[in-house]
Amino acid sequence: MNPSARKPARKPVIAGNWKMYKTIAETESFFAEIRPLVAGSAHCDIVIAPPFTLLRRAVEAAEGSGISISAQNLHWESEGAWTGEVSAAMIRDAGCRSTLIGHSERRQLFGETDEGVSKKIRAALDAGLQAIVCVGESLAEREAGDTEKVLERQLSGGLAGLTGQDFSRIIMAYEPVWAIGTGRTATPEIAQQAHNFIRSRLGQAGPPEAAGRMRILYGGSVKPGNIQGLMAQPDIDGALVGGASLEAKSFAAIVNFRA
Ligand code: 13P
Repeated sequence: MNPSARKPARKPVIAGNWKMYKTIAETESFFAEIRPLVAGSAHCDIVIAPPFTLLRRAVEAAEGSGISISAQNLHWESEGAWTGEVSAAMIRDAGCRSTLIGHSERRQLFGETDEGVSKKIRAALDAGLQAIVCVGESLAEREAGDTEKVLERQLSGGLAGLTGQDFSRIIMAYEPVWAIGTGRTATPEIAQQAHNFIRSRLGQAGPPEAAGRMRILYGGSVKPGNIQGLMAQPDIDGALVGGASLEAKSFAAIVNFRA
């Protein structure tokens, strides 16, 4: 398989997950600073996922910049008595194009299950949102040799019942929990191995050509200094960036990894 022949077919995605950071004023400064830095960056799709309170302002501040705005989570019902929750329709109404689903912090700290992930994917796609679906193993699972078993379970549970057309509106993100916020990035080879496994499982869960077209992002301590090595791998199609997405300069440097 010739990676350089395959890769151009999948447009890279560089996405920033702001987690629970930033005020409205900080959001405005971020977009004012980053816009000129990514004005010529047509080689990839650029996404920022701020907290709910910032979504509308971020959509306005990013207008015409080529940066699209994503939520970090959603509820699977369209409306109802669900205190504290936000639906896909509301996220779409705020001007977002996508939402993260199944981030490991949601799974580990807020009890998110594969079944919940599956319902959220359905809700997001039905509302016209793209789903950025996160999977990844913990350190204990990796050390026990269970990485593929965990990925397999998350993929078969989370992506159950989806069609080839659904696949075309999903982006996968492989985020090994042990690499998130730790400064301990997976080596490009370790990440590639997991991405390759994910792609092969996607090819069994759905149409193989849809699996071949799906973008799979790596997340976990991505920085300007390690993005090139990761992007050189044949099955790594972009990055989901936490800490380094909070600063316009470092996020722009990751976006412009080819420069
Ligand atoms: P860091 O880049 O801070 O390790 O976070 C990764 C992440 O969780 C992105 O969703």
